[in-house]
Amino acid sequence: MIPQRLEHQATDKGYVPIYATGVVEQPWHDYSDTDHAVWSELYARQREVLRGRACEQFLAAMAALQMDETRIPRFSDLDIPLRRSTGWRLVAVEGLLPEADFFGHLAAREFPVTWWIRTPEQMDYLAEPDLFHDLFGHVPLLMDPVFADYMCAYGQGGLKAMHLGPDALTQLARLYWYTVEFGLIRSAEGLRIYGSGILSSAGESRYSLQSDVPNRIGFDRDRIMRTRYRIDSFQRGYFVIDSFDQLFEATRPDFTPIYARLAGLAPHAAGEIVPGDAVITRGTCEGWDDTPDA
Ligand SMILES: [Fe+2]
Repeated sequence: MIPQRLEHQATDKGYVPIYATGVVEQPWHDYSDTDHAVWSELYARQREVLRGRACEQFLAAMAALQMDETRIPRFSDLDIPLRRSTGWRLVAVEGLLPEADFFGHLAAREFPVTWWIRTPEQMDYLAEPDLFHDLFGHVPLLMDPVFADYMCAYGQGGLKAMHLGPDALTQLARLYWYTVEFGLIRSAEGLRIYGSGILSSAGESRYSLQSDVPNRIGFDRDRIMRTRYRIDSFQRGYFVIDSFDQLFEATRPDFTPIYARLAGLAPHAAGEIVPGDAVITRGTCEGWDDTPDA
């Protein structure tokens, strides 16, 4: 089974294939034994790695969703608890969508999930999102009412930003990157992971919490929207929220004046610490090269 690729485009996720916009039927009966085995192995590995590392909301949602550990779950099965908890449902897609389609789905409480899964040779790294990243990384937190509202608000904000030009979209993409994809959250037991890009990566799950190389900085919406990021390596800086309420509250205001204010300011580099940062851990920056940020 080969997904239908349309063209490559420079996006907030890098230079990646953009797929057909249409929602497809999850071709569940066409998954091979290898596809199911890849899911099973990745699932088992991350379940171990995330114990004591993922935020409690994610772990509770995983327990509630009861995803099949041995076979790739049917999206329609997961829609039942999702609808009941927060009104979300999953739609199967070929891969990354054009921005307008992606925002439209989120605003309608539909989460696009790539239907195909990586090969056994790609267990540790894949340049674009696949089923494991989308389903294991993103879907559980849609069970959390506050986080689910944040995702919907993000989609609505994205639709609005479409009319405000490329700078607004760039700033909004940074917010998604540093929260939904690579966010950390405080807990009574220490920092925990809620970002999907980390949750679906064994290496970054350990690195984001335990390495002394990256910076960890308290959440600041406007600062994040000014900050470039890395798409080809672990992050140089992570931003830490206190709670999902804090995240949702940050998206409540109209962003139009924020975009305008930030448009005139030079962006911060990915690993920079700037005046005003609430630094939680200052990284050693070891091994960072001069390649450009996204
Ligand atoms: Fe993602």
